[in-house]
Amino acid sequence: MLNADRTDPAVLRELIATELLAARERTGQLTGAVDDADLVAQHSPLMSPLVWDLAHIGNQEELWLLRNVGGRDPMHPEIDPLYDAFEHPRAERPRLPLLPPDEARAYAHEVRGRVLDLLAASPLEGAPLLDAGFAFGMIAQHEQQHDETMLITHQLRQGPAVLDAPPPPAAAAPPASEVLVPAGPFTMGTDTEPWALDNERPAHRVDLPAYWLDTVPVSNGAYQEFIADGGYRDPRWWTPAGWEHRTAAGLTAPLFWSREGGQWLRRRFGHVEPVPPNEPVLHVSWYEADAYARWAGRRLPTEAEWEKAARHDPVADRSRRFPWGDGPPGPEHANLGQRHLRPAPVGAYPQGESPYGARQLIGDVWEWTSSDFTGYPGFRAWPYREYSEVFFGPEYKVLRGGSFAVAPVACRGTFRNWDYPIRRQIFSGFRTARDAEVGD
Ligand SMILES: [Fe+2]
Repeated sequence: MLNADRTDPAVLRELIATELLAARERTGQLTGAVDDADLVAQHSPLMSPLVWDLAHIGNQEELWLLRNVGGRDPMHPEIDPLYDAFEHPRAERPRLPLLPPDEARAYAHEVRGRVLDLLAASPLEGAPLLDAGFAFGMIAQHEQQHDETMLITHQLRQGPAVLDAPPPPAAAAPPASEVLVPAGPFTMGTDTEPWALDNERPAHRVDLPAYWLDTVPVSNGAYQEFIADGGYRDPRWWTPAGWEHRTAAGLTAPLFWSREGGQWLRRRFGHVEPVPPNEPVLHVSWYEADAYARWAGRRLPTEAEWEKAARHDPVADRSRRFPWGDGPPGPEHANLGQRHLRPAPVGAYPQGESPYGARQLIGDVWEWTSSDFTGYPGFRAWPYREYSEVFFGPEYKVLRGGSFAVAPVACRGTFRNWDYPIRRQIFSGFRTARDAEVGD
């Protein structure tokens, strides 16, 4: 579907409607799995009440599609400030006079009905926001991104399990523990991906020295060796800021882990279970990922190294949309879309392998990189500075690849995520790299 002929407006309209519906079905699952008391509760000061996300989804859809694209008047101007993410930090949102759950649902539903009418009549061209259905695609991605945020809230929520999904596919060990990416230039970012966001643009050539990259993300089993070797107690492995944070926050293991009877357990969406050694490690901060890499005698990859390993086809010297090619992600390629409620074991998805042989670059866990979040050469803020530009700077680190919680519409080889280096309630893991030596 994502590779459909987007130049045909009828096909593009159907694609947009399908993506908007998929997002709304997921929103319905995530908000319908708990009662109203749960929807208005704040499960962590890091997160909004679920009912805030619900009305915010509707409000952003109204703002961008009905008002900016459609030229309509605001439906409820008095609620706009409540759902402006920049006006109210998450911690204070529960104290706002938010729409109660039934009104939030009715509002989002009403907006959606009007948006589908607008879509049916739209030429989907003739204005920058309309070309290739960009604003519609942005809104479908926005809702799916909030669905991932709501899934994080579910993970932080205490109480019995309310979500369910089948297990991911099993895996055999990959053929080699690391892959060699030879020196040379590649094209990073995109000018052609129609729904790419401003920070993924423009396409530009980047020349890299040769490096080795882990074939798969670092596993829980490998991470447990770091813990057992005293990794959390040894300042040698940590940056000064990382050590300061580790000490102040009392970190001794990934978030949601506990130690019982000589065994590591984890809490996952209401289930307490032994930590599976073959799964990618999840819920680690950038500081922890960086310390592990140094302990292992390695380093985190740069963002450019991650993207070259994921997209560059050395035979054709071109960058693909995804590691496996230009076709959309299927269930055989990657663990995406909350199809499973956990990462797949390392080595899974051989059909999703990149030309250099790395696996699971897309899906499973967001991967921390060593890079700060900045604009590419020639960056232009679009459609508003608050999307990306206000976050540029050394305080945010880039994550790549998407997790099991990311929807295909919001995932591609160029997609960039960013967060503070202390964050670990997100679905974050990592893989490591090292410089290649002469003769490798
Ligand atoms: Fe938002």
